[in-house]
Amino acid sequence: MTTEKHTPSPGSVRRVACVGAGVIGGGWVAHFLARGYQVTAWDPAPDAEAKLRRLVDAAWPAVTELGLAEGASRDNLVLAPTLADAVADAEFVQESAPEDLALKRDLLARIDAATPPGVVISSSTSGYAMTEMQVDCAHPQRLVVGHPFNPPYLIPLVEVVGGERTEPWAVRWASEFFEVAGKSVITMDREVPGFIANRLQEAIWREALHMVANGEATVEQIDASITEGPGLRWPMFGPCLTFHLAGGEGGMAHMLDHFGPSLKSPWTRLEAPELTSELRDAMVRGCEEAADGRSTAELVADRDRAVIAVMRAVDEARKGRS
Ligand SMILES: NC(=O)c1ccc[n+]([C@@H]2O[C@H](COP(=O)([O-])OP(=O)(O)OC[C@H]3O[C@@H](n4cnc5c(N)ncnc54)[C@H](O)[C@@H]3O)[C@@H](O)[C@H]2O)c1
Repeated sequence: MTTEKHTPSPGSVRRVACVGAGVIGGGWVAHFLARGYQVTAWDPAPDAEAKLRRLVDAAWPAVTELGLAEGASRDNLVLAPTLADAVADAEFVQESAPEDLALKRDLLARIDAATPPGVVISSSTSGYAMTEMQVDCAHPQRLVVGHPFNPPYLIPLVEVVGGERTEPWAVRWASEFFEVAGKSVITMDREVPGFIANRLQEAIWREALHMVANGEATVEQIDASITEGPGLRWPMFGPCLTFHLAGGEGGMAHMLDHFGPSLKSPWTRLEAPELTSELRDAMVRGCEEAADGRSTAELVADRDRAVIAVMRAVDEARKGRS
């Protein structure tokens, strides 16, 4: 990978800085500590240290259950007195300050000014494009979005994407670093507001709010419709491969040819795209790739095993409810 002169290799990183230590920043701190990193955090709130240590303590049983990396310890956390102190020695920086564009622009420029050259800086933003956040940075080439899911110490996904002024090496470096640090990475080629998973979540969320607002469904019905329904299938297969199986032996091709006209039905407030032959073929091809040579019967067996495992695990977890 072509990087800058001072960029450490992703696998050699030992020191990570977390700027902003609320719900997400604190979750990142817990994750990096559990993976054995030395973590320096900075947060301007007066009670930030006590809150952060409480969050890390609350997360520790879960990360311990998942398995700590060698040398992992809560003692490897240092609260820095200033932002400059937090990032001075960092080999990677994760920013998790409030979702406010002006604040992020200013903060990222200050982080950039104080972070050693060649070190990659990542933002946890839920929806801003890096292009709009990196405008005041002197070295915008090393800034990426690394969008996590709450809590970052449990949910593996990170969506990585650069801005117009980010250089490709920084996106590749961040993706590789997050993999080494135990995350599941989706590297995006282009900026899309909300990235991928938030767009999908948001579609369901907005529809849920519409249904409650219109008296069409209650909160309880909406939650049960997912936890007792499609939610059980999604841990194994995402929505595309799940619908591939809805087409039986004919897979996604049959599913689209059969149910394509339903796209015109008023089943959601979200407008359906035109089901062109290009879109149909892209879906069919994508599902074939995801199936990776498995027959329908093999996919059904995989799904069924997973649904049973998930149902049993959720039952167990419900029994232990506090
Ligand atoms: N909460 C989620 O589910 C979630 C999920 C993914 C991404 N995110 C993103 O993560 C970021 C942080 O969100 P959060 O939910 O942790 O918010 P939060 O309010 O819990 O935490 C924000 C923290 O930033 C600190 N802060 C305030 N001003 C700051 C500054 N100038 N510099 C550094 N720190 C500052 C606050 O003291 C606070 O501790 C946001 O960009 C948000 O969109 C949130």
